[in-house]
Amino acid sequence: MNVYDSERMSEALNGEGYRETTNIDDADLVILNTCHIREKAAEKVYSDLGRIRQVKADRKRVGKETLVTVAGCVAQAEGAEIVRRAPVVDLVVGPQSYHRLPKLLGEIANGARNLVETEFPEEEKFTHLPERTLQEGASSTVASGPKLATAFLTIQEGCDKFCSFCVVPYTRGGEYSRAVKDIETELKRLIDRGVREVTLLGQNVNAYHGTGPDGETYSLADLLGHLANVTDIERLRYMTSHTNDMNDDLITMHRDEPKVMPYLHLPFQSGADRILAAMNRKHTRQDYLTCIEKLRVACPGLALSTDIIVGFPGESDDEFEQTISLVEEVVFAQSYSFKYSARPGTPAAGLPDQVPEEVKSKRLTRLQELLFAQQRSFNESCIGKTLPVLFERNGRKAGQLVGRSPYLQLVNVDASPELLGSIHNVEIGDAGGNSLNGVIASP
Ligand code: 5AD
Ligand code: SF4
Repeated sequence: MNVYDSERMSEALNGEGYRETTNIDDADLVILNTCHIREKAAEKVYSDLGRIRQVKADRKRVGKETLVTVAGCVAQAEGAEIVRRAPVVDLVVGPQSYHRLPKLLGEIANGARNLVETEFPEEEKFTHLPERTLQEGASSTVASGPKLATAFLTIQEGCDKFCSFCVVPYTRGGEYSRAVKDIETELKRLIDRGVREVTLLGQNVNAYHGTGPDGETYSLADLLGHLANVTDIERLRYMTSHTNDMNDDLITMHRDEPKVMPYLHLPFQSGADRILAAMNRKHTRQDYLTCIEKLRVACPGLALSTDIIVGFPGESDDEFEQTISLVEEVVFAQSYSFKYSARPGTPAAGLPDQVPEEVKSKRLTRLQELLFAQQRSFNESCIGKTLPVLFERNGRKAGQLVGRSPYLQLVNVDASPELLGSIHNVEIGDAGGNSLNGVIASP
């Protein structure tokens, strides 16, 4: 979501005479877009600010000003504390106020200093942001090719679930769903710019419930069906989902709508019911398994991805083993796994029985070995198959393109750059842990 937000901020400033640069030494304005989900990400902000302070000092020596802005969830959570710890920062702006960036920067140009904007504003951000402009090659954060084959599109923000470890409900606020018409308009603009595949984003994307063109409330399944029908988009994905919102209509979309890719990111966090309850996940291990079973009946080839936390307070060896056994039972094509990180202000941070760092590290290593072996064997299972690949950028080797399979795997292929931005069948010849190699299939 931060990638998407960065693009929108960049676009909001394009109209104000700013242009994106990839060289920080050239930047009159630096925006550090930050993540607060785990301590490591949040602390990185301060080391990055140290580097930026150096850039600012160097530029000052040659008579150039540099404005420094901290955006994102660290901005939201820490507010004025950031300016106190890092006086180099001119502006702190939370994720709900990006549409106000031009005005805030104007205030700074007029002499204001150390502005902090972290209120959740009355007006709605999306209706006040300028329309998508997405210039070819303008943003280093989008697929870095001459064409923009894939894009993110935020359809929902915030979360009402309050998992006990998670800062999202505090930093991003309550659930909000954009109207179907807005999403459709944005998607059509992206398609005009060459986008063939879109990933609909939301912290709780499958809880989406936006107003449809007919005034009715649309679910995510309704939205996917609508976008598949009224636009020329070729591939639809969505992330991140919660088990309890994986309703039958949505599951059925994976069977009936060919534009919805056979891939799903569905976090389960822990395989032990006692930990799931302490996490306030509001589902059990069996609920997750039942959901997966339904999905696999609807879409037998579905590739699954997940998020897992090890070392939640009080997690015993046996409970960790239940996480391992759930992974063995489900089998994932991809995954993201983390050591529990106590976040200030969340209920779990105050629990007794915090798990020692060495225990968390050991558990994570063991879990990741298993997950990586599953990923590798999923990749190897693709050898000999022909998969439709959307080419999104030039490869590192000359004459090579990189694309995505329906299962989100990276595929390297010797192919002409003319194929960028389009889908072609590729025969998979070999596979590693992180990517596939193949050749264009004969027609
Ligand atoms: N500690 C570790 N991992 C966390 N996540 C969210 N909060 C924490 C935390 N406090 C993980 C969850 C979530 C993903 C985005 O980040 O697995 O699904
Ligand atoms: Fe955080 Fe996801 Fe739980 Fe919401 S559902 S509180 S975003 S982990």
